[in-house]
Amino acid sequence: MPVRRKTMGVPFLDLKPQYHSIKNEVNAAVQQVMDSCRFVLGENVANFERDFAGFCGTDFAVGVANGTDALRLALLACGIGKGGKVITTPNTFIATTEAISQTGAKIVFVDIDPDTYNIDVSQIEEKINERTQAILPVHIFGEPADMNPIMEIARKHNLKVIEDACQAHGAEYEGRKAGSIGDVGCFSFYPSKNLGAFGDGGMVVTGDEEVTQRTKIFRDHGQMKKYEHLVEGYNSRLDEIQATILRVKLRRLDEWNKLRRKNALIYNELLKDVDEVVTPSEAEHARHVYHLYVIRTPRRHELQEWLKSKGIGTGLHYPIPLHLQKTYEYLGYKEGDFPVAEESAKQILSLPMFSELTGEDIETVASEIKTFFARH
Ligand SMILES: Cc1ncc(COP(=O)(O)O)c(C=O)c1O
Repeated sequence: MPVRRKTMGVPFLDLKPQYHSIKNEVNAAVQQVMDSCRFVLGENVANFERDFAGFCGTDFAVGVANGTDALRLALLACGIGKGGKVITTPNTFIATTEAISQTGAKIVFVDIDPDTYNIDVSQIEEKINERTQAILPVHIFGEPADMNPIMEIARKHNLKVIEDACQAHGAEYEGRKAGSIGDVGCFSFYPSKNLGAFGDGGMVVTGDEEVTQRTKIFRDHGQMKKYEHLVEGYNSRLDEIQATILRVKLRRLDEWNKLRRKNALIYNELLKDVDEVVTPSEAEHARHVYHLYVIRTPRRHELQEWLKSKGIGTGLHYPIPLHLQKTYEYLGYKEGDFPVAEESAKQILSLPMFSELTGEDIETVASEIKTFFARH
């Protein structure tokens, strides 16, 4: 296991130990691409697509430029667009909803479940009308949404399901990989993700051959054959250097996810007696991969400042729910519309979480949290 060099405090994220643990392999793979001088849509992208589809348990995978494009192109490939509506949650990164509105469809929000922070499935059906085209569950923080009821609702109303699995590489729902359950699954390989590139990257996975072909056409200027443009598309290709790096890293993803889960258990154990802190829960159907380890406390702001003063990095995912963002004023939502998302946005705090975090690091964080609550 790669070891993190000791520093003062605990960083929110440190990508260096992971790179150093695979440096020779990654560097050799990158050198091969450079020697080949084939940089776009070559054998490394094809091989990584095959490997990633195998990992997810889907028949097909299409590499694209980033996770936002994975969502946007997947929605387009499923026929989502102008006049349609897509249901999702306000507790996600804005990329989810940018992808919806950039197809021409309208965003419809549903509140979240207070335990998992994922879409509250009991509130979906009341939001469906004749214009609804799809449900877009986000597997937030690395824990899959409750997919069985979502799929049932979708089948009943003839809707597509596009999974935002950008934070959930390798997470499982009843033994099935996140991203492989709906019509399409979308992934981001932004460097900080559980499977992160050395730049941007994304992937669409699906069992549907037509969606695969359409996504391939959209990612490459609407062409299947050079200079024969079937539609106006986009330039959204995964590049060969990112694909070869991601292939090396994919072979370790299970091991890295296990370490994240182990770290989460240590945090849970050390924080279990701190009354003011709610630790993340793992639903019975889920295998959480802890892209983020998010606690909850009404004293979030002061705790964050305290940890900062001790050299401990934290994050807020996310401080303003999307329905209250300025850019979405036009949707007409107001404060109070999604009370669970609003309350949790005020209380959540993401603690340091990555595979190479040591037991000692976690003890330091937990002990500073305990000291804070003992003194305040
Ligand atoms: C939930 C979610 N959806 C979509 C994205 C977009 O991915 P990318 O940054 O690769 O475009 C991200 C990551 O940033 C994300 O966390």
